[in-house]
Order: sequence, then structure tokens, then C-alpha cells
Amino acid sequence: MPNPQHAILTDLQKYQWYTHMSRTEGADLGVIKEAMKKVRRAGDEVGVTSPLNVCLLFGPTLLADLTDDMPEDFQPYPGYESPDGKVAKATQEELLLWIHSDDKDICWETQFIFRTAVAEHMSVARETPTFVYRNSLDLTGFIDGTGNPEPAHQYEKAIVPDGKPGAGGAFCIAQRWVHDLSYFESLSLEDQEALFGRTKKDSTRLDKQPPTSHLSHVELREGDTADASKPKRGEMVRRSTPYAFHDGTVGLYFMGFCKDQAPMRERMEAIYGMNGQPRDALTDYSTPASGSFYFAPSVETLDAAIG
Ligand code: HEM
Repeated sequence: MPNPQHAILTDLQKYQWYTHMSRTEGADLGVIKEAMKKVRRAGDEVGVTSPLNVCLLFGPTLLADLTDDMPEDFQPYPGYESPDGKVAKATQEELLLWIHSDDKDICWETQFIFRTAVAEHMSVARETPTFVYRNSLDLTGFIDGTGNPEPAHQYEKAIVPDGKPGAGGAFCIAQRWVHDLSYFESLSLEDQEALFGRTKKDSTRLDKQPPTSHLSHVELREGDTADASKPKRGEMVRRSTPYAFHDGTVGLYFMGFCKDQAPMRERMEAIYGMNGQPRDALTDYSTPASGSFYFAPSVETLDAAIG
């Protein structure tokens, strides 16, 4: 059975670093591959004691130049717009280097060495350092991750199964959401809980989901979305973490993995009310400043493509 990149399903460490890049004109793929080969081994040297998790994720164009093992239905991020004009803009790039460790300095160092090595061949579109906030809270104070599949079932939900193109890999959605916390905090506790569809104190699921709740858009079921009497479908494994910039911009770095891309597209269309549903109340207080789809190939595919 092919192995997923370890960083995806292992415990999320305290600090994350996301660097999105694309090739510049005339880029030498050989130089990029050499830098990727080194970054895969980052943390092996003496003196690095905390686990350092490195994940290489590719957009459709760069993946196609590295391997023939292309997963089915891998599309670039299209962007989304609600009927009343809320926008989730598309900022697709070719490579996402995702690093997480309890040592923030090593996260920084690892991405710095990589981007320096490819500086003549790739431009950095954006980067975001993030952190785990208390007991996996979103900055709104709500627990994020409760509805994730149990660890024992995460492989089967997030990883392309053996025998399919791209086996051992995972589709990914990466977005930097910007929160309007003043607006969110102006809501009553009841309205905040109705917005997500879970309680703030302990993430208990509300029995009756308002049509605008987040769960009414993302808890995919065999029947109607959020109909708890039916089995879940298209589950994904989320690894999101908050960030805070020096200019006061704060929010959630949404990072989700799935063995198919379609359920992630379906959720985005639902959140933005593009399927006829009322739009997700989440979009009243938060807007993504960036959004891309990537694919994280298996360890074996990376070994063959990069070494
Ligand atoms: C600002 C952005 C977002 C925030 C703050 C947020 C927050 C939350 C919270 C608090 C929950 C309930 C607790 C939990 O299960 O984790 C939740 C559930 C969930 N969210 Fe989000 N979310 C965001 C965006 C998204 C996006 C863009 C997607 C998918 C494309 C998504 C997919 C899910 C899924 C699959 C669940 C679990 C549903 C279930 O229980 O089956 N979320 N989210």
C-alpha cells in the first residue's frame, strides 16, 4: 500500500509555515527538484530534536511535469461567488510547501533554505505562519476539528486508495480566511452557536441545524446535508490553524484533505449558496483572501519523481 506523506495525518505540531510558489519563466526543473530532494530530508541533521514535518503539495501544472501518476479529476481552484456578491477569490499556485513543528525557528529555516535555493526559478506568491490556538480553537473561541474522522479512519477518508491513479496521495484545499472578529463578537452567544451549528463551550452539535449554519453546508450526508440520521459521505480531514499578522489581520488558515476533490468543491459551492441553499453564515464574518487546490503525492511517487 503506498504511503501518504507523513505530515498529513500525523499530529499537528504547534507551529505551521505555508509558502506558495510558482515557476518563473525559463525555470530549471532540475534545480527545483534538487531543492525538493533536500527539503524532504530537512530535520535529519544533528541538533533538530522536535519532529519536523514537511509536505510538498502541487498544483495541476507542476504535478504533470513531475509524474505520470496524475490523480483523477484534479482541477485548479475556480473561485466562488454567492448570488449576493460574496467572493472567495482564486489564487492557484504551482507549489505549496507546508511545514509544521513545535519549533517555529526550524519551520522558518526550512522554508528559507528552500526558497533561497529556488529563488531564480520560483517566485513566492505568499506565505503564512500559523499556530495552534489553545485546545485547537478558531480565533472565535469555537473548537475546530470536532467532526474530523477518528484517527483510525483518516487514511481511508483522506488518501487515494490503492489501485487508483495517485494512490497514496491526497487532494488538498488551502485558503487563508480573514475574520471580522468585532462583528463576530457583537453577536449573542445564541447567534454565534447558530452560525456554526455547535455550542461554544464544548462543541456539542445542535440537534436542530438552522439552514444558514456552517454544518448545514459542510456536513455531507447520504440524504440531506446535516441530516444526522443518515451516514456521512465525502468526509475530509481538516488541519486548519489560526494566524495573526502584525497589521491586525487575523483569521483561519483552512487546510483540508480528501481522497477526492469533488466533495471539497461541493462544500465551497454550498458555503457560497451556489447550489440554491442560503449562503453559510460563516461568510458574514469571514472571507478567504486566498484559495488553491493542491495534490500531495505519496512518498513513493515523490521518491520516483524527485528522489
Ligand atoms: C473561516 C473558515 C472556517 C471556520 C472558522 C470553520 C469552523 C468550523 C467549526 C467551528 C466546525 C465545527 C466543529 C468541527 O467539526 O470542527 C466546522 C466543521 C466543519 N467544517 Fe468548517 N470552518 C471553516 C471553513 C470550512 C471550509 C471552507 C470547509 C470545506 C471546504 C469546511 C469544512 C468543514 C467540515 C467538513 C466540518 C465537519 C462537518 C461534520 O461534522 O461532518 N469548513 N468548521
